[in-house]
Amino acid sequence: MKKFVNLVFLCLFSLSILCNFSNANQAIYLHRLLNSRRSHTFPLSDSWAQLQEKGEFSPVYVAPQDGLMQADKIDKLPGQPDNVDFDQYAGYITVDPLAGRALFYYFVESSANSSTNPLVLWLNGGPGCSSFGYGAMEELGPFRVNSDGNTLFRNNYAWNNVANVIFLESPAGVGFSYSNTSSDYDRTGDTSTANDAYTFLVNWLERFPQYKTRDFYITGESYAGHYVPQLAYTILLNNKNTNQTVINLEGISIGNAVIDDSAMATGFFDHFWTHALNSDETHKGISTFCDFVNGTESHKCSSFVEKALLELGNIDLYNIYAPICLKTMLKNGSSGSVNYFDPCSDSYVENYLNTAEVQRALHVNPTTWTGCRDYNWTDMPRTILPIIENLMASGMRIWLYSGDIDAVVPVTATRYAINRLKLPIENAWRPWYLNNEVGGYVVEYKGLTFVTVRGAGHLVPSYQPQRGLTMISSFLQGGIYLHRLLKSRRSHNFHVSDSWARLQETREYNPVYVAPQDGLMRPDKIDKLLGQPDNVDFDQSRMFILWIRSYGNWALFESMVRGKHFFEIIMDRRTMVRSTYELRQNQSFLYLVLLLNFPVANVIFLESPAGVFTPV
Ligand SMILES: *[C@@H]1O[C@H](CO)[C@@H](O)[C@H](O)[C@H]1NC(C)=O
Ligand SMILES: *[C@@H]1O[C@H](CO)[C@@H](O)[C@H](O)[C@H]1NC(C)=O
Ligand SMILES: *[C@@H]1O[C@H](CO)[C@@H](O)[C@H](O)[C@H]1NC(C)=O
Ligand SMILES: *[C@@H]1O[C@H](CO)[C@@H](O)[C@H](O)[C@H]1NC(C)=O
Ligand SMILES: *[C@@H]1O[C@H](CO)[C@@H](O)[C@H](O)[C@H]1NC(C)=O
Ligand SMILES: *[C@@H]1O[C@H](CO)[C@@H](O)[C@H](O)[C@H]1NC(C)=O
Ligand SMILES: *[C@@H]1O[C@H](CO)[C@@H](O)[C@H](O)[C@H]1NC(C)=O
Repeated sequence: MKKFVNLVFLCLFSLSILCNFSNANQAIYLHRLLNSRRSHTFPLSDSWAQLQEKGEFSPVYVAPQDGLMQADKIDKLPGQPDNVDFDQYAGYITVDPLAGRALFYYFVESSANSSTNPLVLWLNGGPGCSSFGYGAMEELGPFRVNSDGNTLFRNNYAWNNVANVIFLESPAGVGFSYSNTSSDYDRTGDTSTANDAYTFLVNWLERFPQYKTRDFYITGESYAGHYVPQLAYTILLNNKNTNQTVINLEGISIGNAVIDDSAMATGFFDHFWTHALNSDETHKGISTFCDFVNGTESHKCSSFVEKALLELGNIDLYNIYAPICLKTMLKNGSSGSVNYFDPCSDSYVENYLNTAEVQRALHVNPTTWTGCRDYNWTDMPRTILPIIENLMASGMRIWLYSGDIDAVVPVTATRYAINRLKLPIENAWRPWYLNNEVGGYVVEYKGLTFVTVRGAGHLVPSYQPQRGLTMISSFLQGGIYLHRLLKSRRSHNFHVSDSWARLQETREYNPVYVAPQDGLMRPDKIDKLLGQPDNVDFDQSRMFILWIRSYGNWALFESMVRGKHFFEIIMDRRTMVRSTYELRQNQSFLYLVLLLNFPVANVIFLESPAGVFTPV
């Protein structure tokens, strides 16, 4: 459960604490793994660089797939909404017949233009977490699970609007993917994962031959920062060496990606500090005593790290501003909305995927599905940057995107990692827009594009579905949507000297203007506000009345208020739902009156300085 996440981070750095969490999700597994590697010794050498030199070609296992596509077609997912206008498939692809190892996939086609839209593979991270349970059912898939755990609602911002999407549960052992040789799970690592995923793809394209020549992209998030470049690289090598299927790989796009361990550790704590989650002292201690580059760990470093994690409190690190899942929030039966990501979604999905009827519809053998699996991971380079450089050299499109309020693999980590590549900038940092709002920022380096998605956490399509879809559409189309719209900055010269520091020293006393106010309170009182709800049941002492005087153009002023500009500036929309206002007018004044219910304080909103909201 997400609420354990900061304890898990404690696990990450203090080896003395025994950690055992069930029902955890991908980032927990990620950090548990990073912890475990401190006690294991993974080879530092980059085994991927050697791949290229390997002369011989060993063809992968390819089985006949005739007729299996039709068998994989899903009639209907239990509880799915009406008007489903696209095809869905699910099933296993055997990647090793001797071991009895098979990977499970879920495939959704586009409803329109599926015969021309690109083919996209999606991979979640962990390592060991399910692309179906997280990716398809909570992020970018066409459906999400309602709080009853039995029915689905439509995600209008699903990525199958613009692509045909394969969700692959990888490696074997994750979700519905399995091996009949259980010792396979002890031999799992980056290399075996990439090789199995490649074998999967070759066989999948035999099963769906109409996609063999389609433009193909690999996407994913988190620990897929390893999977995606490694699989892409494996494809490039095999495309060169083989006369079996050439996979038409055009590009990769990875969100909040684990690509460089030391950049990640530094970016992690810097993000805490710059987002007001840690104290100055703790951040300074970490900067002083922790050497994340060389990886030597001092006792002082560990104790500051522990402090940093305690200082966070119980927040959702996947989205530092999101609510956490509390038992009382579970409203079994209420239907979900794609515009509000329910923090308890994990349990709805787990319930749904463990329903016998659902498993039948997905063509899986009856089993217990869990979101993540724990592995003793066998190989894991500390940095993926050399592979990314190789991919850049091949000329494929490479995007790294980042939800900017994720604290697990934060935007700072990605930036530090990219900076290590020392790439020339081709198009400088600029905002990109959606519905006239900044959707995020983009900078194009030579060979690599970095995009942020504003207000998104670790699972970008969960927290910002519309911006996530715009981002991936732009990626698939080569960036044409991300047009340049720089606001010009005014260059004024302000006085540099600080007149405020001298205020305290002023000796003379200048009394301010004070007018008699007797009897003026009563006329200010508001009887009842225009449009005020009937059931205003709070007492007068807790009712605060604000009013604003404005002189001048009534029509303009009114249109500003009615156009909601005022509200958006003053407060968020959620708060405004509980408030109401009235505009009043006599020959000399215009009033705007707000009625609010503040249980803990009496609040004055002062329109200041003169001229504010006084159109001329
Ligand atoms: C795994 O074993 C089961 C039971 O024997 C069998 O039905 C299944 O086909 C095997 N899986 C693979 C991929 O060989
Ligand atoms: C399908 O493709 C056509 C031609 O490229 C395009 O005009 C249309 O908008 C596409 N439809 C959808 C729903 O993407
Ligand atoms: C919701 O309630 C129904 C009926 O009581 C029950 O069958 C189902 O398991 C519940 N779902 C969850 C997620 O608790
Ligand atoms: C290429 O294909 C031919 C015919 O299918 C086969 O005989 C040959 O072994 C293949 N070569 C490689 C390197 O796989
Ligand atoms: C890391 O190690 C290298 C080589 O031993 C050394 O030059 C460098 O100063 C070290 N970095 C830090 C931050 O200690
Ligand atoms: C990982 O290895 C350790 C020691 O070899 C063992 O105790 C543990 O059970 C293994 N964990 C898993 C998930 O296989
Ligand atoms: C307009 O209303 C204000 C506030 O109630 C009052 O002080 C003022 O005398 C009124 N002016 C006219 C012309 O009615």
